Amino acid sequence: RPAACFLLLLVALPGLAACSGTQSALDPHGPVADSIATTWWVLFWGAGAILALVMGLVLYAMFRDPERKARLPHLPFLVGAGLVFPTLVLTALVVFGTLVGRDITRASDDALVIEVTGHQWWWEVRYPATADAPEVVTANELHLPVGVPVEFVIESADVVHSFWIPNLGGKVDMIPGRSNTLRLEASRPGRFRAQCAEFCGAQHSRMGFIAIATEADEFERWRRARAVAPDASGPGLARFDALGCSGCHALGGRPAEGGTGPVLAHFAERPTVGAGAAANTPGALRAWLADHGARMKPGSLGPAQRRLDDADVEAIARLLEQQR
Ligand code: CUA
Repeated sequence: RPAACFLLLLVALPGLAACSGTQSALDPHGPVADSIATTWWVLFWGAGAILALVMGLVLYAMFRDPERKARLPHLPFLVGAGLVFPTLVLTALVVFGTLVGRDITRASDDALVIEVTGHQWWWEVRYPATADAPEVVTANELHLPVGVPVEFVIESADVVHSFWIPNLGGKVDMIPGRSNTLRLEASRPGRFRAQCAEFCGAQHSRMGFIAIATEADEFERWRRARAVAPDASGPGLARFDALGCSGCHALGGRPAEGGTGPVLAHFAERPTVGAGAAANTPGALRAWLADHGARMKPGSLGPAQRRLDDADVEAIARLLEQQR
């Protein structure tokens, strides 16, 4: 049986190899994520040491020579192992956890504010206007500057979602009717996958986006470029209106009439189609448009009642590809 346990451990170990990557809390790219990863490792090795100790005692109890019973002194053992030891360990963990928690929620005066609203199943991202930058509204993508503390204001438009960029920090629930805040910072450039972390319906698993951390000057260039509406002229626009797309989607510099779907201005620069459902390729875009994501993301709340014909798919795809 010890051999089986050892084998099990060997099988489980490669799991740790998955610790690095673009969607891993154990591959931290910022101070908040560092603290969270450190907490994780402290718990991992601490719990591992205690598990090893307990298993050692169990094995000793199982395999000791029954003729040579070394009786453990009951009362001191019970008080020591059952009361003093857990109290010390848990108190240390509470102090450690409280300090880490205080550290990662500390407010910063010069934080960049980004408002993120969860929808079934996509993300609305808003950079409020500041003294020297105009407002930017986008969807399913997030840009942030390296070395600048960011304060996310987190809300939901429908059900409970959860905002999580594992490599940078989080997660914090997005609760309807409530504003939560999350502070984090990227310490070096990179692209990280974020994922909704609270079950929110049929397409919860396909509610993701790519967070892109760039140097501060590159971020400022991006932000200024995003404030300029892309050209939306051409035959696609008439179809966009005739098919009713403009009822929900803002495009070019035009606001949406109803405003319930993702903003499509600058869509061509987004890394993904359908909030992380697929990479933003010409093929994926056309496949999405053909039935408004009904096959790529079944259950999507956008109207999927009709299939567009090939000419309309092409016209709308060209219009969106122009949104850069
Ligand atoms: Cu949104 Cu899960």
